[in-house]
Amino acid sequence: MRVLITGGAGYIGTHTMLEVLGAGHEVCVIDNFSNSAPEALARVKTLSNRSFTFHKADLRDREGLTMHLKAFNPDAVIHFAGLKAVGESVEKPLEYYENNVQGTINLLQAMKAAGCQNIVFSSSATVYGDPDFLPITEDHPLRSTNPYGRSKLHIEEMLRDLAISDPDFTAAILRYFNPVGAHESGRIGEDPSGIPNNLMPMIAQVAVGRRAHVKVFGNDYDTPDGTGVRDYIHVVDLAKAHVAALDWTQSHTGARAFNLGLGQGVSVMEMIDAFAKASGREVPYVNAPRREGDIATCYADPSRAQAELGWKAQIDLAGMCETCWLWQDTNPLGYKTKT
Ligand code: UD1
Repeated sequence: MRVLITGGAGYIGTHTMLEVLGAGHEVCVIDNFSNSAPEALARVKTLSNRSFTFHKADLRDREGLTMHLKAFNPDAVIHFAGLKAVGESVEKPLEYYENNVQGTINLLQAMKAAGCQNIVFSSSATVYGDPDFLPITEDHPLRSTNPYGRSKLHIEEMLRDLAISDPDFTAAILRYFNPVGAHESGRIGEDPSGIPNNLMPMIAQVAVGRRAHVKVFGNDYDTPDGTGVRDYIHVVDLAKAHVAALDWTQSHTGARAFNLGLGQGVSVMEMIDAFAKASGREVPYVNAPRREGDIATCYADPSRAQAELGWKAQIDLAGMCETCWLWQDTNPLGYKTKT
């Protein structure tokens, strides 16, 4: 299959590229490196021992996008490119709508111009908001509490509308729970710029000595140990789900959402303990107030992905921590580390 990947140089993008290339597909990547580095793609090339086409392009440039899509003529698109920081989205909502929503409109129009009707979209469990029930199924009501989440939800709605308007259009909407970990080689991983927003990269930077301690945002939630509970999923498991979703698009039409998680809740304190064990390092922490917009508990019912995509997460919490640590320990400055 010919697969065009937007945002392929990012954290989930690089891991997915390895799986897609490993499955024998031909790949064209589009990225503007707004939150990623050319070095990440260089490492994907070495690790996969495969070549792929790359264009430095921005989804806001519809003409450029259309040109690349027409030239590559993809069978399917995997769409990762987008801004993803919740706090920043509250400060700069228009940037989020322009990059994420307008960027996706441009991509969908370019796909139409190139005759491509299959898309795998990178959505998020954020579209469930504060859940009404657990585990969360795909039929749970959708809502969003910030511009980032709303941008994901708007895109999902556009994909559902397109599928209604065009009987040949296919969208696999993948709702990620909390992606963590790194490739087993330790050569690619999550490389946040500035202070990490998310828990696992923060713990990793504390363990490696780049930061003094983890702030635990709230220890008075209605959870077993009082700290927030999430459904962490290894990024390689997540990447494999994209290959399964690509296959699914070839024999289905319509827009369908799939939860990608393990279906198990892990608390902040359990994560800190598991990481300390996997790394053999201390992970100092301090209790801090709740972070605005956070919820107590969130975990998936991933049974639809298993039944319909034939996919199930395989890597446990220890594997998530071990691979994250391997990446962090051997690349303390991320892709800026001299090797
Ligand atoms: C966050 C986003 C979510 C996005 C996802 C992408 C928010 C509110 N939500 O999810 O929309 O789709 O990232 O991966 O930003 N925690 C700490 N200390 C830290 C960081 C986090 O205690 O320094 C806690 C949080 O309170 C939470 C848990 O760790 O209980 C996980 O947080 P995080 O990794 O940021 O993910 P989410 O908030 O679930």
